[in-house]
Amino acid sequence: MEIQITKTTTPKAKPGADVKLGFGNYFTDHMLIMNYDEGEGWHDARIVPYGPIALDPAAMCLHYGQEVFEGMKAYKTPDGGVQLFRPEKNMERLNVSNERLCIPLIDEAFCVEAIKKLVDIDRDWIPEAPGTSLYIRPFIFAIDPHVGVHPAKHLMFVVILSPVGAYYPQGINPVDIYVEQKYVRAVKGGMGFTKTAGNYAASLKAQDEAEKLGYTQVLWLDGVDRKYIEEVGTMNVFFKIGDEIITPELSGSILSGITRMSCIELLKSKGYKVTERKISVQELFDAHENGELKEAFGTGTAAVISPIGTFEWNGKKITVADGGIGEVSQMLYDTITGIQCGKIKDEYNWVQKI
Ligand code: COI
Repeated sequence: MEIQITKTTTPKAKPGADVKLGFGNYFTDHMLIMNYDEGEGWHDARIVPYGPIALDPAAMCLHYGQEVFEGMKAYKTPDGGVQLFRPEKNMERLNVSNERLCIPLIDEAFCVEAIKKLVDIDRDWIPEAPGTSLYIRPFIFAIDPHVGVHPAKHLMFVVILSPVGAYYPQGINPVDIYVEQKYVRAVKGGMGFTKTAGNYAASLKAQDEAEKLGYTQVLWLDGVDRKYIEEVGTMNVFFKIGDEIITPELSGSILSGITRMSCIELLKSKGYKVTERKISVQELFDAHENGELKEAFGTGTAAVISPIGTFEWNGKKITVADGGIGEVSQMLYDTITGIQCGKIKDEYNWVQKI
């Protein structure tokens, strides 16, 4: 499919090097759009000036949440180049989400190429300060003007770009986490393994209450036994207990994070013992009690590697080790961001240059 390109005639001012970008506050000059119509498939891929999208008030995404999204990043390398980190994995996961939400599958290779084209057009927006990148947000939503509950026949695929800094204001400094006992995020058979807006809507109440208590995020437990650790609000989670690095197994209600996958591969290649298994919150607190809990950290595209300083559960608060940044977390942060930004040799074939 050809991609039609219409460049803006009124480029926006880019945030200056002295501006604290935060996360998701600025958007570039262009966006990618593609439409799906039943009988025609995905068509009309086009890069156009960034701007509002007209939607019928009856558009089905607004009523029943038939929407999926992805999160990925582009990085500037020291030689002035631009590269993406495992973009094919994001498109693969987008199709996993599509399948669950009755959204027509996309052509993964085509979408990677289209995203590269968009990033190339807006490459001057990629920030260069340490810890910054260009966040790429592909998303698909149902646009049929129809207030009946059925899979859509008409959808839009859109990609927008946002220069970002750290997701958490703490940066790589440890975050404090509240173990959620009242609300659940997902159950097996539901949509927890997909990246869909509803999963995040379901998390807002718990997140809001945890923030009021002074916590950065919540740690979700399984929705049935309310015992087993699933994931943190916007990240997968890892623990170092003794010399074992444990992350909850992908049970059907947990997002299969690309940073999670990369950390597992990297740790194994460096000889660490990594186990994907069920881990209960009781085991975590017992490990702390026994002095065996050495580290805890979250992983995600937005959050990168985020050490966890404290957990609160059942009215009890524990601090992980000395509450600082653990050795494994620091190594993973340095290696993953080093590869992403082209400062460390990519021995894993993860990056794709634009
Ligand atoms: C990501 O890590 O890319 C995410 O999508 C998390 C989030 C900002 C919702």
